[in-house]
Amino acid sequence: MVEFLNNNIFKIISDVAKPANEEVYVIGGFVRDQLINRTSKDIDVLVVGDGIGFAKKVKAHIGHNVSFSVFKNFGTAQIKYKGLEIEFVGARKESYRANSRKPIVESGTLQDDQNRRDFTINTLAISLNANNYGAFLDPFGGLEDLENKIIKTPLEPGTTFSDDPLRMMRAIRFATQLNFTIEEQTRQALYDYRDRITIISAERITDELNKIMASTKPSVGFKLLSKAGLLSYILPELEELRGAETQDGIGHKDNFYHTLQVLDNLCTVSDDLYLRWSALFHDIGKPRTKRFEKNHGWTFHNHNFVGAKMLPKIFRRLKLPLNDKLTYVQKMVNLHMRPIVLAQDIVTDSAVRRLLFEAGDDIDDLMDLCEADITSKNEQKVRRYINNFKLVRQKLIEIEEKDHVRNFQPPVSGELIMKTFGLTPSKPVGEIKSAIKEAILDGDIPNNFDEAYAFMLVKGKELGLTQIR
Ligand code: CTP
Repeated sequence: MVEFLNNNIFKIISDVAKPANEEVYVIGGFVRDQLINRTSKDIDVLVVGDGIGFAKKVKAHIGHNVSFSVFKNFGTAQIKYKGLEIEFVGARKESYRANSRKPIVESGTLQDDQNRRDFTINTLAISLNANNYGAFLDPFGGLEDLENKIIKTPLEPGTTFSDDPLRMMRAIRFATQLNFTIEEQTRQALYDYRDRITIISAERITDELNKIMASTKPSVGFKLLSKAGLLSYILPELEELRGAETQDGIGHKDNFYHTLQVLDNLCTVSDDLYLRWSALFHDIGKPRTKRFEKNHGWTFHNHNFVGAKMLPKIFRRLKLPLNDKLTYVQKMVNLHMRPIVLAQDIVTDSAVRRLLFEAGDDIDDLMDLCEADITSKNEQKVRRYINNFKLVRQKLIEIEEKDHVRNFQPPVSGELIMKTFGLTPSKPVGEIKSAIKEAILDGDIPNNFDEAYAFMLVKGKELGLTQIR
C-alpha cells in the first residue's frame, strides 16, 4: 500500500464514508506526485455523489482545528488540516472546465470523472473505501506511463485538447518539469490543434510558462512549444530568433538555440524567475536589428536597446507584471553586453565604475546573465572570457569598496549648488551636477563631499559663476 495512506486524514475520510457506503477516492496530481516522490500538499478527494455534503461530514468528524470553505461555483469544498489542503469534489461527467464562469456540474461515476481528465498520469485514483482501501483504479494505464515517463491523454488526444486547449501547454509543462516524453499521437495532436490555444486566456498560458521557466531545464519546454507550432501564437518574437543565415560565406549563430542555451546556463546559477525571463529575452531585439555589412559581416547594432523597448508590449500581451519586474528585465536586456565588453578589453577602473553605477544593486544578476551568455564553441575563447570575468568580478568588489558608486547619491546636492552661486533651478545647476558625477565615475575625484565641493567651485568658475557664500 502507498505510504501516504497511513496519514490519519485518509483513515478519517474512509471512516466517514463507511456508514452510508459512499465511494471516495484520492485522485489526480497528489497521487501522481506521491508516486514519483514529489512534494505536494494539495489533495484532491473525489466523491461519487455530493462532494460538498461529504466534506461537511468530514469537518464535523474532525471537529475543531480545521478551516473549511465552500466554493459553490466549482461545486467543491476545502478543508485545511495539519498543513494539508484537501479539496472535495463530486465525480463529474462533463469535460473539464477550469476557470469557466459557468461550470456545468452533472454527476457521474469514477470512470466518467477519470475520462475527462488531461493525462493518464493524472487519472490515477486510489480507493479510500473500507472494502478495497488502497487499491489502484487505473483504467488508462497511468501507472505504467508514470513508470515509463510518458505524457499521454486518456482519450483520443483531439477530444482531450478540445475540452480544454490549455492542456496542450500543460502537456509541455509536465514534460519539462518531470523530464517526461510526450507520446507520439499526443504530440501530433499538439500540432494539429495548435490554433485552439487562441481561446485560452493569457493568464492561464503565462501560468504554465512560469512553471516551465521555474524548471531545471526550461529549454526543453520552449523547444517543444516551438515544434508544436504553439510558440508562434504565444511568443512569436522568440520564434523569430530561429535560423542561421549565410551571406558571402559568412554565417551567424541560430539565436533561438543560443537563447535557450543561455537560459539553461543561467538556470544552473539562479532560481530568480525574472532573471530567467531576462535570459529568455536578452537577444529578442536581434531579428529587428540584423544587417549584413560588407566589411563587418553580420551585425545586430543596438539589439539590446531595441529588445528592451519591445518588452512592454510582450509583457502586456502575456499579462506579465507591468511594474518594477518589467523595469528590471528591461534593464538586464539593455545592459546584457556591458560586462562582456569589459571582459574583452583591458579592464579599466572607470569602465567598472560606470557599470556599477548603471547596474546598481542588480550588478550581480547582470554578471550572472552575462556569464551565461558565453556559449561559444571555441574552448580557448570561452576560457579567456571566463578568466577575464573573474577579473571583472574582482575589480567590481575592489572599486565598490573604494568608491561606493553602486547606489550612487550625488555628494553635493542641487540645492547647495544653487545656494553657493545664487542660482534658481536652471541649466548650469544640472551641468555642474553632471560634471561632478562624471568626474567621480572617471576617477578624476574620489566620491566624497569635500572633493566634490572643491570640484564644484572650479566648475562654477569655469562657467563664469560667482560664489556668493
Ligand atoms: N486537470 C485536467 N485538465 C486541466 C487541469 C487539471 O484534467 N486543464 C485535472 C488533472 O487530473 C489534474 C487535476 O485536475 O491532476 C488537478 O489539477 P491541478 O491542480 O491544476 O494540477 P496538478 O495535476 O495537481 O498539477 P500542478 O499542481 O502541478 O498544476
